[in-house]
Amino acid sequence: VEQTYIMVKPDGVQRGLVGEIISRFERKGFKLTGLKLFQCPKELAEEHYKDLKTKSFYSTLIDYITSGPVVWEGVGVVASARKLIGSTNPLQAEPGTIRGDLAVQTGRNVVHGSDSPENGKRETALWFKEGELCEWTPAQAPWLME
Ligand code: GTP
Ligand code: MG
Repeated sequence: VEQTYIMVKPDGVQRGLVGEIISRFERKGFKLTGLKLFQCPKELAEEHYKDLKTKSFYSTLIDYITSGPVVWEGVGVVASARKLIGSTNPLQAEPGTIRGDLAVQTGRNVVHGSDSPENGKRETALWFKEGELCEWTPAQAPWLME
């Protein structure tokens, strides 16, 4: 099963958007398989965003992500989750998306989602230990999928 990794970033937590953001994934029909509130250590933030190491904004990104607690959750389907989240720059994100509705700046774009199934696996393994994910069948499953 495809897995994606969603993080409510520190601005989303500080602004009280955790419930709103989780609710959007729940209402879509994605299955939540793990959840934690977490103050992100610098080394893990660096590992998580290692592909962006050469970017000019890298150190501000690491400062941003480690500035307060984040919520990590595992849900299904990478590409669709990215669509719900919207473009990196919230001013370009479509209305109806999380960033389009709830944010104004790239450096404060409230949520992260894995960009590929491989990264979904990598990031989930990075942030959740074995036994922290829950395999379950939602009661609504037959009403979501034929
Ligand atoms: P994530 O889901 O967080 O990975 O965002 P993304 O996949 O839409 O964008 P990308 O992976 O390219 O960049 C990761 C994060 O770095 C973005 O979500 C922003 O928070 C931050 N970022 C990207 N570009 C810029 C920039 O030009 N300036 C600043 N300040 N931050 C940036
Ligand atoms: Mg990314």
